[in-house]
Amino acid sequence: MPVHIKSRREIGGIRNAGRVVVKALDAVSREVGPGVALRHLERLCADVIRAHGGEPTFLGYRGYPAAVCVSVNDEVVHGIPGNRVLAEGDIVKVDVGVTKDGLIADAARTFEVGRVRPEVHALVEATERAFWKGVEQARHGNRVGDISHAVQEFVERHGYSVVRALCGHAVGLELHEEPSVPNYGRAGKGMTLKAGMTLAVEPMVNLGGFDVDTLDDGWTVVTKDGSPSAHYEHTVLVTDGKPEILTGG
Ligand code: MF3
Ligand code: CO
Repeated sequence: MPVHIKSRREIGGIRNAGRVVVKALDAVSREVGPGVALRHLERLCADVIRAHGGEPTFLGYRGYPAAVCVSVNDEVVHGIPGNRVLAEGDIVKVDVGVTKDGLIADAARTFEVGRVRPEVHALVEATERAFWKGVEQARHGNRVGDISHAVQEFVERHGYSVVRALCGHAVGLELHEEPSVPNYGRAGKGMTLKAGMTLAVEPMVNLGGFDVDTLDDGWTVVTKDGSPSAHYEHTVLVTDGKPEILTGG
């Protein structure tokens, strides 16, 4: 998992893959709701991805058995979409990776199913805001720890916890490249960021404690205390100035 500084051509390719990621997530946002099966959301994503000349990156990655990850409520990430049907009040995280012309983009959103409890709605909003706090720090010359610290500080100031067992990561030529991008840490520490790095910044935020377990399926990560968890992720280009979202449409 080396560090890759992307060329202009590679950045263009990652942006193209990112456009397909956005189309898949937008399709989910149109169809998600009470009564919808997780398997339906997976098929929808796979169809959109293939219709636009992409491949679902996660399918078969280290043996992962589905096209995209779909995780409900206390499932943090890496849920395997099956026959479960969404109910009013659930939150569902859909994480999409697309490979197109050999280049990869990765993003995730948390969708609210009908009306959710106010404290869960607030968790979802805080997770997205924590992402933007982190991304503000994704600039040439800053350190990875500047991103990590900004996310953690925001999350904990609002009374939530950040998952520590899983991290963001550089992405583009491979799904997981160096550096990894933890959602907790110290400002000024870690690898120095360089223009041309492409990073998947992805806070996973729990309403309760930060501890997680993995289910017997070997994939699904859940909160230990059963509290709900939210996830928000984009692939971001580090530049000399403002970071650029490559999964933004
Ligand atoms: N966005 C996730 C990640 O960066 C998705 C990987 S799921 C896997 O790790 F199934 F492909 F492993
Ligand atoms: Co990712």
